[in-house]
Amino acid sequence: MKDQLEKIKNLAESAIQDAKSMQDLEQIRVKYLGKKGELTLVLRGMKDLSNEERPLIGKIANEVREEIENSLQNAIEVVKQNEKNIRLQKETIDVTMPGRKCKLGHKHPLTKVLDEIKDIFIGMGFKIAEGPEVETVYHNFDALNAPKNHPSRDMSDTFYITEDILLRTQTSPVQIRTMKKQTPPIKIISPGRCFRFDELDATHSPMFHQVEGLVIDRGITMADLKGTLDLFAKQLFGSETKTKFRPHHFPFTEPSAEVDVTCFKCEGEGCKVCKGSGWIEILGAGMVHPNVLKECGIDPEEYSGFAFGMGLDRVTMLKYGIEDIRLLFENDMRFIEQF
Ligand code: PHE
Repeated sequence: MKDQLEKIKNLAESAIQDAKSMQDLEQIRVKYLGKKGELTLVLRGMKDLSNEERPLIGKIANEVREEIENSLQNAIEVVKQNEKNIRLQKETIDVTMPGRKCKLGHKHPLTKVLDEIKDIFIGMGFKIAEGPEVETVYHNFDALNAPKNHPSRDMSDTFYITEDILLRTQTSPVQIRTMKKQTPPIKIISPGRCFRFDELDATHSPMFHQVEGLVIDRGITMADLKGTLDLFAKQLFGSETKTKFRPHHFPFTEPSAEVDVTCFKCEGEGCKVCKGSGWIEILGAGMVHPNVLKECGIDPEEYSGFAFGMGLDRVTMLKYGIEDIRLLFENDMRFIEQF
């Protein structure tokens, strides 16, 4: 039995020496140390030994097991290291190769102008609010006091998703969402995309951008509206800029106005940009209609406020002298990089 153990040990050791891979080593482990392995079989025969022999052989058997285990462990380390070296050799990096250039983007002109507009209003204490582009008819029209037969509700002007859901045609529904959520004082601007069923040409796009403004508090008057927008125009277009309020109509404001600024190109003299008039229309505005306040749970006897909405695409085009709105949405880097 002692010889048998010695033989197993020698065979195992030489097999381990010849092993080249982890699989080889695993096979050896199973063959000699596994449940049906050779060493195990020998140990099973120990019950036939005499009482004197058993502890002696037992001791040798344990030593043999330990030695084989140690040799296996060492061999595993060596194989692992070899495999790693081979992998490292295969994966060598040629550090002299030129790197891949990472292309930097460029701020879109719409984003640049919007950032400026945001900075100006944040400087006056406004917060930024957002609303969904997919809106309900209720928020986009009904709650904004739009009469049921208002032409803008028409299928030919508005993208309807269902009878009650549409792509918002203006950012004004954010007024409703804000007033329903928040108690006055409210002072927000809300920039975002809007959609109207327009044929695409140099001045129209079915997708465009507006920036909405809303201020609600006790004692807000038309003077606050004029002062705020006049200061805004001076900051965006230059300190010499003047504003002009022309009477207009919106269902959700009363009184309502369209606001012009003096042409920043000719400073009011008359040129191509302002089509000779010296003035450029940039936004709609007015005092929030009492019906709208009531709909949002705000008492018009206690609170008043103003709202305005401007076309971001239009302001951007005017500011940079861009003549075709389509350029803003084609994402041609040769165009975008000019700003
Ligand atoms: N929502 C209006 C439009 O799209 C603009 C506007 C906003 C007018 C707020 C008055 C007050 O034309």
